[in-house]
Amino acid sequence: MLAKLIIRFVSIKQMAKLSVNINKIATLRNARGGNNPNLLKVASDCEKFGADGITVHPRPDERHVRRTDVLELKKILTTEFNIEGYPSRPFMELVTEVKPAQVTLVPDSPDQLTSNHGWDTVENRDFLIGIIKELHNAGIRASVFVDASVEMVRGAAMCMADRVELYTEPYARMYSPDPDAAIAPFIEAAQAARQCGLGLNAGHDLSLDNLEFLCRNIPWIDECSIGHALVCDALYLGMEKTVREYKKCCQAHSDK
Ligand code: PXP
Repeated sequence: MLAKLIIRFVSIKQMAKLSVNINKIATLRNARGGNNPNLLKVASDCEKFGADGITVHPRPDERHVRRTDVLELKKILTTEFNIEGYPSRPFMELVTEVKPAQVTLVPDSPDQLTSNHGWDTVENRDFLIGIIKELHNAGIRASVFVDASVEMVRGAAMCMADRVELYTEPYARMYSPDPDAAIAPFIEAAQAARQCGLGLNAGHDLSLDNLEFLCRNIPWIDECSIGHALVCDALYLGMEKTVREYKKCCQAHSDK
């Protein structure tokens, strides 16, 4: 009985959290210039449906989530707030004012369509150390977006990051033809993160097809940050069912 309880406790503790990226909701709202869909309501509803956190990526051109959205979201969210972005001065001013639970640093250029690679944590070490120090001084957890590379994960640890977020697009792309080959470099990078004492996040192109396999093979993932596929699925399934389905995938390993 005691052993069972311990196993249950460990498995609950290790469950990957789901942070819903609501950028696409803002894109839809901005298409007509009004407030439909209402970003704050969608964020609150996602929390109500079981999301463990909300992610936004305010870009300099404000083409989806705006600076004002970030300030408003901070007031109403009851789960973890994660803000992604390139650490420009305006971005750092925004996040140190808002003080989300976590900032995920991405190496995007201002006009980039979407994040498509992780940091070179060796080349950018001094820059990242300075930025992460600023985040820590504001009481914010720092996660660094990296490719599935042991060297880049170790580099992030040298920058004093708290977590890495593995860029999972290559995993998602290769998953369908060959899941084992797709996951292999991610397991290796995830093991390196664990050895360095880093927390572990994952994101980009995760979906109902590939998420469970990822979480089952890397059960120490702390958080998956998911937007595009989740919003697309919500068009057919509805947001409530969609969030619940993604949560089930995140919990896959704890049932086994
Ligand atoms: N993580 C990072 C760093 C991102 O830039 C994005 C896209 O905004 C995501 C995760 C979510 O990716 P997707 O929208 O493909 O789920």
